[in-house]
Amino acid sequence: MTIVPRFGAGHRVLVTGGAGFVGSHLVDSLLARGTNVVVVDNFLTGSKDNVAHLADDRRFTLVEADVSEPLPAHPALAHRFDAILHFASPASPTDFTKLPMEILRSGSLATMLLLDRAAADGARFLMASTSEAYGDPQVHPQPETYRGNVSSTGIRSVYDEAKRFSEAATMAYHRYRGVDTAIVRIFNTYGERMRPDDGRAIPNFVNQALRGEPITVHGTGTQTRSITYVGDLVRGILLLLDSPETGPVNCGTEYEMTVRELAESIARLVGGGSTVTFTDERGADDPEKRRPDLTLARTLLGYEPEVPPEVGLRRTIEYFRTR
Ligand SMILES: NC(=O)c1ccc[n+]([C@@H]2O[C@H](COP(=O)([O-])OP(=O)(O)OC[C@H]3O[C@@H](n4cnc5c(N)ncnc54)[C@H](O)[C@@H]3O)[C@@H](O)[C@H]2O)c1
Repeated sequence: MTIVPRFGAGHRVLVTGGAGFVGSHLVDSLLARGTNVVVVDNFLTGSKDNVAHLADDRRFTLVEADVSEPLPAHPALAHRFDAILHFASPASPTDFTKLPMEILRSGSLATMLLLDRAAADGARFLMASTSEAYGDPQVHPQPETYRGNVSSTGIRSVYDEAKRFSEAATMAYHRYRGVDTAIVRIFNTYGERMRPDDGRAIPNFVNQALRGEPITVHGTGTQTRSITYVGDLVRGILLLLDSPETGPVNCGTEYEMTVRELAESIARLVGGGSTVTFTDERGADDPEKRRPDLTLARTLLGYEPEVPPEVGLRRTIEYFRTR
């Protein structure tokens, strides 16, 4: 399957959350194709630094606004968009307790407002969903047909259920308002521009190792994750954007490893002699296993991950070393 690029020179694309970790890489790739990109971000968890290198690019506009509110009157937002990519949402486990209302709003009010705009513009709407839609899965690996094992009231529910609501809203606008939609279910992604203090395992472990401290693993470290380098994810997202697919497609890798193995690899790659220690504080509802079934991504999009963990982790370590 070969996907022909649909969005490039002369097209206008709105990226919400484009000053965040994933969003800023997506913006770089869209600009590299010649697309005009407007980012709307309120810098709640992102940073102007992530897009500072684009300040002189005439095809790039940054608008500071909260997408849970109607879009502000701004010349860059006045004209029709060809595509709207909704990536604005706090996403790290520490945000689940620090920013619960903001997460709920960006996964509900913002999604509805942006879907209305996509309907009005006749734009393709791509929603950033998550492997958290599967909760603590009882099916492994997880295909898109699996409906998940999610708590609607637990600590993580503000994020998981907001994303599930966003998926439902996206499909409803597709069915009843004819919006051209896509949903990407993103599995654990890492790379340059992650926040050092965002509570996710990789930046935590890398920064502990760079400081020469012991790496602390919550729980026994037997829980698994399949980690995806951000460059692979962005390639997958653009394939989905260009494709005619409307429903959810997993994007990630099958590089599944235990959190203990991940910590040990990082200690080895950093090379400072950090040891790995274990704490009792395992996060509530922290899933035991995560690995995408990539059959749909492969067959519908021709997607194949290219960056093995060792290579992506080295790049990430170098990024944090120079911060
Ligand atoms: N990184 C991952 O592993 C992962 C996994 C699954 C899903 N996702 C999804 O991908 C998207 C991006 O995640 P990320 O890891 O880059 O997180 P991030 O926190 O780095 O990026 C989110 C961006 O959205 C902005 N934002 C948040 N609420 C906003 C609002 N109301 N209005 C305007 N801007 C707002 C933040 O300031 C930030 O720049 C999120 O929707 C997230 O749920 C990420």
